[in-house]
Amino acid sequence: MPTKVIIGAQWGDEGKAKIIDILSEKADVVVRCQGGNNAGHTVTVNEEVYKFHLIPSGILYPGKTCVVGNGVVIDPEGILGEIDHLVGKGIDVSTIKISSRAHLVMPYHKALDKAKETLSAKEGKDIGTTMKGIGPCYMDKAERTGIRVCDLYHDEVFKEKVRTNVKIKNAMLKHVYHQEVQFDAEVIIADYMRYRERLRTYIDDTTVIVYEAIKEGKDVLFEGAQGTLLDLDIGTYPYVTSSHPVTGGACIGAGIGPTMIDECIGVMKGYITRVGKGPFPTELEDEIGERIREEGHEYGTTTGRPRRCGWFDAIIGEFAVRTSGLTQIALNKIDVLKDIEKIKICVGYELNGKVIKYFPASLEDLELCKPVYEEMEGWGDISHIRTYEALPDSVKKYLARIEELCGCKITMVGVGPNRDQNIVIK
Ligand code: GDP
Ligand code: IMO
Ligand code: MG
Repeated sequence: MPTKVIIGAQWGDEGKAKIIDILSEKADVVVRCQGGNNAGHTVTVNEEVYKFHLIPSGILYPGKTCVVGNGVVIDPEGILGEIDHLVGKGIDVSTIKISSRAHLVMPYHKALDKAKETLSAKEGKDIGTTMKGIGPCYMDKAERTGIRVCDLYHDEVFKEKVRTNVKIKNAMLKHVYHQEVQFDAEVIIADYMRYRERLRTYIDDTTVIVYEAIKEGKDVLFEGAQGTLLDLDIGTYPYVTSSHPVTGGACIGAGIGPTMIDECIGVMKGYITRVGKGPFPTELEDEIGERIREEGHEYGTTTGRPRRCGWFDAIIGEFAVRTSGLTQIALNKIDVLKDIEKIKICVGYELNGKVIKYFPASLEDLELCKPVYEEMEGWGDISHIRTYEALPDSVKKYLARIEELCGCKITMVGVGPNRDQNIVIK
């Protein structure tokens, strides 16, 4: 079976989980590779809504191995809460496998995330993070002072790491951020000792599980979190997350080589949203933007914040195709654009009197970019349609233009949040 990486091709929340859920029916293994519980992945089955943050979105089909890979940062309290919630809904969680190499989000990471954001906000320089401690946890990983899942099972190593870290983080909170909050290493150790007993049954060397599954010809899906423009290297830095949501990140975060990936599927919406701060060339701060937000229920799955909405940006689409080597696009939420008379697509940016066709690195340049639009005919309600042939001509033209501008074929089209509201294009 071809292995497939599914990533977000915009600023996150493209409907990745819906695509993962649909593809999971035939899959054997679903792997989360990066990010943490900053992700909010929604799956709707028969009007019932499930929200995942750390658990792979394939868990709703029984018997699928659901891997939380080494590249993920794990908040133990968060993942155990999710597991309990799923058990309460009668879902089998025995197939969850958590990497022994993954880093742990600690309480001080969340406090530092909040402290940094609060201080930066005073100068209007906050990123608008989810406050889940993601940045500080990946900082410790890069600084080589992080604590990994495997450390939990080596008492003395774990205690020593917590005590050393707490000393440093308390000093940072007090002297750099002037915060009152101070952590007691012994309390954290006691809490994490409890978590480790509950987590023990799920911990494994997931690199072996994934490798063997691929070698045995099983159907393996890699579930990206966040999106291309939130990538630490190629996103709108510094308004990004601290991991690699592009397809390349899936290899590192699952512990496999690039030769083991066959298909790279980029998930896009028929428009664009962004939650958090940073430039957004096609943002609509008018009644159309408001209408898309309400019609598309564009409020954060993790934080509940309203998402900023804008027209589809083909410069971003092409950027995602190029930087992730996309072989397919899944285009979600085109039903949301119903009853808008003229729909716009951004086909270039005007920068300093010239039209450019690439996504600039410098945020200062990006702030100056004015979108160059093409207008297309709109459509009515399409949420009941299930075949490509039955779509209105205006939708077909919209899809064809997006394919042409992005340089990649669209193989799935979303016309609603439900599992069955998806049109497969052969
Ligand atoms: P993810 O983070 O990429 O998995 O996306 P989110 O779950 O954060 O946000 C996507 C939202 O759009 C969810 O509420 C989905 O149920 C919903 N959704 C997904 N696909 C479609 C679609 O084709 N049409 C509509 N109307 N909603 C969709
Ligand atoms: P899914 O997987 C949308 C954004 C935050 C903020 C920036 C940094 O559901 O698509 P962080 O907490 O990661 O340090 O925040 O990244 N962000 C997301 N935006 N979808 C997500 O995940 C996101 N995860 C983080 O809003 O702008
Ligand atoms: Mg989301």
